[in-house]
Amino acid sequence: MRIPKNVIEQVRDASDILSIAQDYVRLKKAGRNYLGLCPFHSEKTASFNVSPAKGFFKCFGCGKGGDTITFVMEIERLEFLDAIRWLADRAGIEIPKTKEEGKAYDKRESVYAALRFASEYYVRKLKEPNSGARAREYLHGRSLTEKTITRFSLGYAPDSWDSLIKAAADVHIKPETLEKAGLIIKRDDGSYYDRFRGRIMFPIRSHVGKIIGFGGRILVDHPKAPKYLNSSETDVYHKSNILYGLYQSKRMARQEESILLVEGYTDVLALDQAGVGSAACCGTALTLQQVTLLGRYVKEIRLLYDADRAGMEATERAIDVVLAGGVAASVVSLPEGEDPDSFVREKGADAFKLHLKTATKDWIDAFFAASLSDDGFGTLHKKRQAISGVAKRIAYTKDDILRKMYVQKASQLFAIPEGDMAHEITRYARSNQPQQQPTQTPPESSTSAEPVNFDAISEPEKMLLQLMLEEGGPMIEYILGNMGYDEFQEGPSRKLVDALIKGYETHGDGILSAIQSKGINADEITQQLVAHVLVPRHEISEGWEAKKINVPRLNENSKRIAQDCMMRVKGKVVERDLQRVKHEMMNAPEGSEEQSRLQKEYLGQKQYLLKINNRTLFDD
Ligand code: UTP
Ligand code: MN
Repeated sequence: MRIPKNVIEQVRDASDILSIAQDYVRLKKAGRNYLGLCPFHSEKTASFNVSPAKGFFKCFGCGKGGDTITFVMEIERLEFLDAIRWLADRAGIEIPKTKEEGKAYDKRESVYAALRFASEYYVRKLKEPNSGARAREYLHGRSLTEKTITRFSLGYAPDSWDSLIKAAADVHIKPETLEKAGLIIKRDDGSYYDRFRGRIMFPIRSHVGKIIGFGGRILVDHPKAPKYLNSSETDVYHKSNILYGLYQSKRMARQEESILLVEGYTDVLALDQAGVGSAACCGTALTLQQVTLLGRYVKEIRLLYDADRAGMEATERAIDVVLAGGVAASVVSLPEGEDPDSFVREKGADAFKLHLKTATKDWIDAFFAASLSDDGFGTLHKKRQAISGVAKRIAYTKDDILRKMYVQKASQLFAIPEGDMAHEITRYARSNQPQQQPTQTPPESSTSAEPVNFDAISEPEKMLLQLMLEEGGPMIEYILGNMGYDEFQEGPSRKLVDALIKGYETHGDGILSAIQSKGINADEITQQLVAHVLVPRHEISEGWEAKKINVPRLNENSKRIAQDCMMRVKGKVVERDLQRVKHEMMNAPEGSEEQSRLQKEYLGQKQYLLKINNRTLFDD
């Protein structure tokens, strides 16, 4: 089972740590690196660091780190060689196999291969001048472009009982394998027939792009046949943790931190074509696993279900699941009778995007509206039930401020005292508890120290530390060239500065990687501080905007940000000094030498403050 060395190297080179890690962790750009919540231990502040340039990851919290292969081994729980296979498969690199290996080859792999073959076969059939003509016409009639058809590998299953079986036999794929792939069905007499016949085929891919099953839409309506037929559950296809379209939309979703959840295959296609990313459950209700999967990419799921009774009910249920999965939920309503696909086709992409902006509601408003009928709540009992429903959902919200806002909002909506609403929520908060983190692994942590609270260090000071940690050499030189050591807070902050200075002296420009590999010497508290300040910036910058400091956007003018921060840190120190001098001045004997010295000092400090605020202090 040996894999040649050069193939391993090839696989290593082709594996991009960032895109792979992003399939498991929501990462935010922070300087040259990316940060997110560690997938290997449970944590609230981001300490999982990915360096695309260096090709490795490192968690400051639990200490795990390594290259892409290590990451795959750890996260998929694979042995080294299997991790190589996994990566090779993903990168489309063929690993040469001997005959024997071929036999021993994982059964799952042959199922994947059969699915890949089937997809290629259906694509070919769609393109065939005669047999595919009607299917092509149908797709074009639905305004789907060639680009979209290719992007989603749409195909056509001919209206025949055994065309796939025969085509597969030509390339030595056995019926048993096709059956395991959910593509054919065994008759009582032991013979087989194609599952999908006369259908437009939508290959269903896992979030990393593997074809694991199919959805098939009937081409010619038939009263007895279902409009859509989906793959049955197989070893590789579990519909409860798959989302159609996620593979294609995940990049966009990650950027926007938000994704639309729709009902159907065709909705996903129409929206993708309109430049809007979405995903759909494949013929099931939304599950917690699906929400957890989406949570790796986004903070918010926007439910965009069909504007009919079924869609409304599904929305209500989905809100519950999304919130339980710890993801924010909002609801986009459509005009009565429409689905996203029909809306985009009739009104166009721009109108749809505009609609998204105006018709997105917070889940609480949507939920409230849905529980009202024309005459209000009808009975008090119904109203009471609606209050419970809202309370239960609010209880999932972990963020204190957000929860308080929800309490306020709910008490207004239902016209009941905030206290009562809050009380109702506490009741549910307890019963929601065990469900909240569905896939939580027991926290494992290499730090033995209690978590330290770093509130005493001001935000601008933390930002300075963050900038130095993220940008390394030049930034360290710039900041420490303009800030005195004693202008940093005594304690952990100064210790970190100390470690940075020493690290820079030893490692020079290699300091960034030294920090990541814990190559700089720092005690546990300092390490904790590192993890603490390396939170994605926008998360620590609430209320930060109000203080008229530029909210930093990656690398964009980071010097200017450093200046702003230094200005504030220095300003605080000087203001404190000014207070002290003023106080001493008042206590000094009138006309004494002491007093005039203090006066001079006071004026000097004042001038210094002016300089700080004018930025004339800093060299560019
Ligand atoms: P819809 O009936 O809303 O389909 O079902 P649609 O996407 O609008 O399809 P078109 O526009 O008629 O082609 C929504 C989803 O429900 C599942 C499918 O996943 C479908 O995409 N479904 C629907 C089934 O699984 N089986 C069915 O018979 C119908
Ligand atoms: Mn439709």
